[in-house]
Amino acid sequence: MFNMLIMGPPGAGKGTQAQDLAKRFSLRHLASGDVVRSEVDGGTPKGLEANEYMKDGKLVPDVLMTSMVADQIKVACESSNGVVLDGYPRTLPQAESLTKILGECGIEMRAVVNLKVPGQEILDRLVFRLTCHGCNRVYHRNNNPPKVEGICDDCGKGLKIRPDDNEQVIRERLRVYEEQTAPVLKYYEERGLLKEFDGTPPIGEVFQCVVQYLQKLGAE
Ligand code: AP5
Ligand code: MG
Repeated sequence: MFNMLIMGPPGAGKGTQAQDLAKRFSLRHLASGDVVRSEVDGGTPKGLEANEYMKDGKLVPDVLMTSMVADQIKVACESSNGVVLDGYPRTLPQAESLTKILGECGIEMRAVVNLKVPGQEILDRLVFRLTCHGCNRVYHRNNNPPKVEGICDDCGKGLKIRPDDNEQVIRERLRVYEEQTAPVLKYYEERGLLKEFDGTPPIGEVFQCVVQYLQKLGAE
């Protein structure tokens, strides 16, 4: 079993890499943003509350966020070859909650991969991102387009622009990242788990670098 986190600012390529890594190593990809969006789309009370924060680029409060993902993390870790967590934890209290959740299941975190990408590139990536309505796969109009315009290569459903992918909200997401999520990197560095990667090369190159690193750690 191999459990890992993928971290990085908005638009760093967490979802893109996590989806490919999950396929490569037969892991479950669990993205906290997808969990929130699914609750929002379902109109659940938690989704409605979370959307008040998400639409403005703010973080969903820790207790609410952890209540949405805790059970899914346990199920994903126990029922698969391991999990790629994407987007959770995003604050120090969430990192502590995750350590507790994994500890209760007797599960170990094996790697924390951080993708580094500068702010201007992030803006270009996110304003041209397209996201699949069905399976959440991400594309980019210019540098990662679908084979057929507007249609997901994997599931055939339609592609859309995420409501929080507009410039004003992206800038707020970046500000929130620096303030609240960057400190989480130190938490994992202190535990000897953090490995940083340049996230600016083409998608396939970043993927190869991360794969080689994970293989060294024993991922198969
Ligand atoms: P979330 O969905 O996690 O969004 P995010 O962190 O802002 O990250 P993104 O999904 O925007 O980017 P990504 O790194 O996955 O990049 P991607 O692979 O798509 O969270 C959304 C919201 O939910 C939060 O703002 C918050 O409100 C709430 N939330 C979620 N988790 C939470 C938590 N734990 N606590 C509290 N609130 C939470 O790639 C981006 C684009 O770049 C794509 O178009 C892609 O094709 C392209 N691309 C990728 N890699 C490359 C490359 N190497 N070269 C060129 N283009 C590339
Ligand atoms: Mg994502």
